[in-house]
Amino acid sequence: GGTNDGNNGDDGAMVAASLHHCCCHQRGTASSCPAREQWYGFISIDCGLPGQTGYVDKTTTLSYTTDAGFIDTDAGVNHNISAEYITPSTPTSLHSVRSFPSGERNCYTLGSLVSGLKYLLRGKFLYANYDGLNMLPMFDLYIGVNFWTTVNISASDVEVYAEAIMVAPDDFVQVCLINTGGGMPFISGLDLRPLKNKLYPLANETQALVLLHRFNFGPTDSHTIIRYPDDPHDRIWFPFVDVENWVDITAGEKVNILDELFQPPQEVMQTAITPRDVSENIEFTLDLESFPRDHSLGYVHTVYFCELQEYPSSNALRQFYIYRNGVLTYLQVYTPPYLAGDFVNSLKPFQASQYKISLNATAKSTLPPIINAIELFSVISTTTVGTNSQDVFAIRAVKKMYQVQKNWMGDPCLPETLSWDNLTCSYNSSRPPIIRIVNMSFNDLQGGISPDFAALKNLQSMDLSNNNLTGSIPEALSQLESLKFLDLSNNKLNGPIPSGLLKKVQDRSLDLKYDNNPDICTNGSSCQPERGSNLAIYIVVPVVVIVVLLLVAMLYFCLQRKRKQGSIKNSVKLKNDGDGNSSLGLESHRFTYRELETITNNFQRVLGRGGFGCVFHGSLEDGTQVAVKLRSHSSNQGVRQFLAEAQVLSRIHHKNLVSMIGYCKDGEQMALVYEYMPEGTLQEHIADNIRRALPWRQRLRVALESAQGLEYLHKGCNPPLIHMDVKTANILLNERLEAKIADFGLSKAFNCHDDTHISTNTIAGTHGYKDPEYSRTGQASTKSDVYSFGVVLLELVTGKPAILPDTEPISIINWARQRLARGDIEGVVDTRMQGDHDINAVWKATEIALKCTEQVPLQRPSMAEVVMQIQECLDLEEVCTGRDDEFYTGSSSVGMDPNMGYNASTNRCTDLRQNNATLEIEYNHRRGPQMDTSPVATR
Ligand SMILES: *[C@@H]1O[C@H](CO)[C@@H](O)[C@H](O)[C@H]1NC(C)=O
Ligand SMILES: *[C@@H]1O[C@H](CO)[C@@H](O)[C@H](O)[C@H]1NC(C)=O
Ligand SMILES: *[C@@H]1O[C@H](CO)[C@@H](O)[C@H](O)[C@H]1NC(C)=O
Repeated sequence: GGTNDGNNGDDGAMVAASLHHCCCHQRGTASSCPAREQWYGFISIDCGLPGQTGYVDKTTTLSYTTDAGFIDTDAGVNHNISAEYITPSTPTSLHSVRSFPSGERNCYTLGSLVSGLKYLLRGKFLYANYDGLNMLPMFDLYIGVNFWTTVNISASDVEVYAEAIMVAPDDFVQVCLINTGGGMPFISGLDLRPLKNKLYPLANETQALVLLHRFNFGPTDSHTIIRYPDDPHDRIWFPFVDVENWVDITAGEKVNILDELFQPPQEVMQTAITPRDVSENIEFTLDLESFPRDHSLGYVHTVYFCELQEYPSSNALRQFYIYRNGVLTYLQVYTPPYLAGDFVNSLKPFQASQYKISLNATAKSTLPPIINAIELFSVISTTTVGTNSQDVFAIRAVKKMYQVQKNWMGDPCLPETLSWDNLTCSYNSSRPPIIRIVNMSFNDLQGGISPDFAALKNLQSMDLSNNNLTGSIPEALSQLESLKFLDLSNNKLNGPIPSGLLKKVQDRSLDLKYDNNPDICTNGSSCQPERGSNLAIYIVVPVVVIVVLLLVAMLYFCLQRKRKQGSIKNSVKLKNDGDGNSSLGLESHRFTYRELETITNNFQRVLGRGGFGCVFHGSLEDGTQVAVKLRSHSSNQGVRQFLAEAQVLSRIHHKNLVSMIGYCKDGEQMALVYEYMPEGTLQEHIADNIRRALPWRQRLRVALESAQGLEYLHKGCNPPLIHMDVKTANILLNERLEAKIADFGLSKAFNCHDDTHISTNTIAGTHGYKDPEYSRTGQASTKSDVYSFGVVLLELVTGKPAILPDTEPISIINWARQRLARGDIEGVVDTRMQGDHDINAVWKATEIALKCTEQVPLQRPSMAEVVMQIQECLDLEEVCTGRDDEFYTGSSSVGMDPNMGYNASTNRCTDLRQNNATLEIEYNHRRGPQMDTSPVATR
């Protein structure tokens, strides 16, 4: 994988040009009916379709609905596109449009989202002279209150797509079309697709990704558009076909797609292009459009690779450097893995005024570069938050009750220029806008006073005068604490003035006007109903008010809870960003066996041996030292475990878990490449009598760091992971003696968030560390790791192995329990520490170890509790010895960062404007600029 953090180029003027997508048509894939859960949560709207019933699209097998129910019925006008633009390949969903002759802003509201989850949002636009005016419009799109993109219709027959990958800030999302004076906004269709949150990790709560280009290279047919069901996420992959200049390669076999970050469809990865002339490189330039308002947020890309051909001979090699805008973006030489989907992506957005990708063959390479697909996005900010959600909820209910038309669409207060008529908001940069004043006088309001007004908690002034309001005044209005002015005059209200309001009038906190309401009685509770019907109103109205208030209160409570969760996520996120930049990246590099030979100098230096095979020392081109764990063919650890570990490691990142730099799966050869841990295993340190024994404080630090690593697996990973083989041999130490957990070959993911047990077919783990409950029942849980960790902790205290080789082998747990039962703590402590320890801290650590190794899993603490307790030991040690810690780097007990490298939290929407896309594939006949780092072939 790559590191795209070069910042070259300024924000810039874009070349606007357009490519007519004459060919935007799905291929016929109606044959197989997809499983329902695949499209569960899809919303596919055919805008402008008359009536209430939808249809099933034959090409995609997706169900389209009309837009009724997603937009106010009086907003916009339905049209059919001109018949001359309808060809057999025009998607049915584009045959009609809804256009918006009135109102500066018109919005669709898509409900039933889950706040915090990631979605792909797509607007579709085919003008096709629907209005007979032949005037190509240009207008803006917003996602809620955040600018999404400008839709520039460049030709009548061009299908324009706007796509965004975004994280839902709320349980609904609004898509707003804004008339900016460039012609009447219209829309043909709107799609919403739920995405797994780990997809597109750079889309998060604060930023969305707006699609600029998505190309699939090498399909033989230029009409091949890949989307659902081939792509379960229904991304639209446009074909790039140019057989004159490029060789299309199509794999006969299935491509392995392991990655969890982008999951390109099989059909996209099975095709690629290479230059016709084997001595040429690949270079092409894509336009960065002028539509991102804020270029400072930059761009992100993902380039997909997969070797589709078997090398013609044993000395054949495809190897190249990957440059973005002339800067090496992937720091090593790159060889695409055979029949396995791989990618290079941005770890953070880059700045640019143009996007140029160059793939330059190395001197050693005998085959030209290859490319399978590319995606390019601009980043938009989604940090603008809409109006106070309680106010929004209330005012939308008011709008519904009185069928308010006007400009009451989208957010009530934002943007300020489009705030709703009759409302005055108050803005404060540190919190969402609130509604302060409602003036709906002379609005011809019918019916009662909406009790929802009472939920506008920040209301200071309300003028409902000169309407046709009937019924009585809701008592709930007296709960508006800030209300200073209320004008109800010139209506048809009746009944008493609620005592709460009267009280406010009496203490002069409220100015109440109610003249010209024939049936209002001013003497409060003594007011008698004149007609029977009024009695009903007296009883029914309060009941309704109470029910509504309860509902409002419940909703408020829910919203608050959501808010809270959101903010926790945010803080976690920030932490991630901090650490993420220094990590080796999300994507794992795939090495060839030959590269491993070079890296390890022909597997010269053995670092260790395990069930998997040997671990060798190696160093990368840039001097980074690595450990290469090579699977031996006689290994009893299977391919599945190997892959399991590769998968686990590529998605978890924590300072106390050993990180994977890459892997190799080259025919029969398999290896994992890790960061090098020069101080070896904890087991060596404990068993070694020659090396200076670890001092007590250092042991506590190792315990704390290992515990933090495990805590992260249990609590920070989603789904949680059980390591299944915690032992001193699997805890490695770096040059600063910081501990990291290694060997995830046996780890298991839970599917539940609680401590539900998982069943395993075979009992894994190591004798002496294995949870007895798990050995007995085959049911593992996070508490199985806690047990094993308890054994590790005992080893740290005692300096003895997990099984003591006595005349009769005895477990360290029983050995320690026997001595402690006699109160003999000194008899347990490792004598090599030579009294260099605080006995209280040792007692406490031993106690923790014994709790961890309780027979009954329920009686064992969680790793989070263990972390806290060990931190207390360290504090105790420091207080008692008065010493500072020269090694320990973690400052607090929890240094975890659960989303890192995997980003369970966030993704946002992107906008795709495919038809405007300009793709200029250029030939690099001369080969690109030569750089020291990039040897170029002189074949
Ligand atoms: C569009 O065409 C359909 C039939 O194809 C028709 O039922 C519908 O009324 C037309 N809509 C408009 C706005 O003319
Ligand atoms: C919109 O498209 C037209 C036609 O392609 C082009 O001339 C114009 O420059 C574009 N406008 C913007 C702001 O990109
Ligand atoms: C409400 O608006 C009307 C005009 O529509 C105006 O006459 C009246 O003074 C306003 N009320 C308040 C309280 O400002």
